[in-house]
Amino acid sequence: MKSDIQCLISAGPTREWIDPVRFISNPSSGKMGYALAQAAQKRGIEVTLVSGPVNLKVPDGVRSIMVETAQEMNDAMQALFEKADVTIMAAAVCDHRPQSKHGHKLKKNQHPSYIKLEANPDILESLGRRKKSSQILVGFAAETENHLVNAMTKIHNKNLDWIALNDVSRKGLGFQSDFNAITMLSKDEETVILDRDTKLVIASRILKLLFK
Ligand code: C5P
Repeated sequence: MKSDIQCLISAGPTREWIDPVRFISNPSSGKMGYALAQAAQKRGIEVTLVSGPVNLKVPDGVRSIMVETAQEMNDAMQALFEKADVTIMAAAVCDHRPQSKHGHKLKKNQHPSYIKLEANPDILESLGRRKKSSQILVGFAAETENHLVNAMTKIHNKNLDWIALNDVSRKGLGFQSDFNAITMLSKDEETVILDRDTKLVIASRILKLLFK
């Protein structure tokens, strides 16, 4: 049974190209975002997944848009945001990109001694600025210290309803893993601890909170 609720989810890393064969990225597997998409689809919610490059199958019944760079992810998210009742930014967006992409593969002896970077758009922040009161916006935060204080600051700065706080300093959790442990923090300072479990179980608990 399909509901009228539209959910927009971003997942995976972005790639910021240096030349046609080299890029800057991060180790995000996309598993958390894909688990959220699968769990939302199971609840009968209409899901659009905007995904960076990952080795995962798009869950059945989920509409997907594949992107590579942060700018492409930004374009897709901005275009889809207005229709989304709930938006979850689970992607690990690269904060920076090379100022220019070389048109051809750099030869060994051509390698520059440094790469000039420029800032990528903060997608979540700009969605927060556009958000209507009827929309729910959720961000992720991977912190290694001062978790709760930093997360609360992020909620206010980016106008979020919830933030999913990953403690990436805990072994065997987070990036690449099939498991996660998350603290959910709301703008009203409600705190819900989701103890270590598979990303799919964690994902359905997150959705239960958002759709309660
Ligand atoms: O500020 P920080 O990068 O830790 O925030 C993480 C959250 O912001 C995640 O939800 C991530 O998807 C989002 N983000 C973004 N655009 C960026 C960097 C992060 O939307 N350029």
